Amino acid sequence: MSHNGIDVAAPTVAVVYHSGFGHTASLAEAVAAGAGDAGADVTVMHVETMTDDDWNLLDHVDAMIFGSPTYMGNVSAGFQAFAEKTGRRCMEGTWRDKVAAGFTNSGGKSGDKLNTLSSLAVFAAQHHMHWVNLGLSTGWNSSFSSEDDLNRLGFFLGAGAQTNVDANPDQVHPADVSTCRHLGHRVALVTRQLNIGRTVSPAVSAPAAS
Ligand SMILES: Cc1cc2nc3c(=O)[nH]c(=O)nc-3n(C[C@H](O)[C@H](O)[C@H](O)COP(=O)(O)O)c2cc1C
Repeated sequence: MSHNGIDVAAPTVAVVYHSGFGHTASLAEAVAAGAGDAGADVTVMHVETMTDDDWNLLDHVDAMIFGSPTYMGNVSAGFQAFAEKTGRRCMEGTWRDKVAAGFTNSGGKSGDKLNTLSSLAVFAAQHHMHWVNLGLSTGWNSSFSSEDDLNRLGFFLGAGAQTNVDANPDQVHPADVSTCRHLGHRVALVTRQLNIGRTVSPAVSAPAAS
């Protein structure tokens, strides 16, 4: 990939998620497809089956998109276990200045998903990552809109999806699939823009001296 004669590698994006029953896993695939559509080199990983190679890959990707089901109004214990395993990396700034974004899924239309997205954003901030929001207006909010709208549930911080608790993983709502696909696409484009900028102005790798 080149930009104004400068060679810029395809952005590398990891979709890092937990899913207890497969619904969030389906959405992770949609996020990955969106990032791939935008030319990213994408890897998808479930936090409970990560290998040493996966951890190494995370240390080298340009962007991570975190996904968790909403359990008890927050990220799942599975996702939080992953987050707590990153403590050393957090202390050492290993993921500093990478791009981050997030998505969640719950049984309730609201289900307290905002709290989960907030937790994901705080997790990224603790790593000094750059959080990318969803970049969509609220859907399904007028007499001429519908539940088939992008961002039908009206989140801004990230992608929020809703799946009936008795649905199969392949029955996630098509509008939520599209919304997650949009998020992946947006993150890949923002990452590419940042990568191009870093060819002329490198990322800040440490706090500025006072
Ligand atoms: C332990 C547990 C807690 C849950 N808590 C919430 C919740 O706080 N809000 C909600 O709307 N749904 C809640 N749910 C429903 C899940 O978010 C929903 O079934 C989701 O699709 C699960 O995603 P997964 O298949 O990726 O695990 C909960 C489910 C479980 C198992």
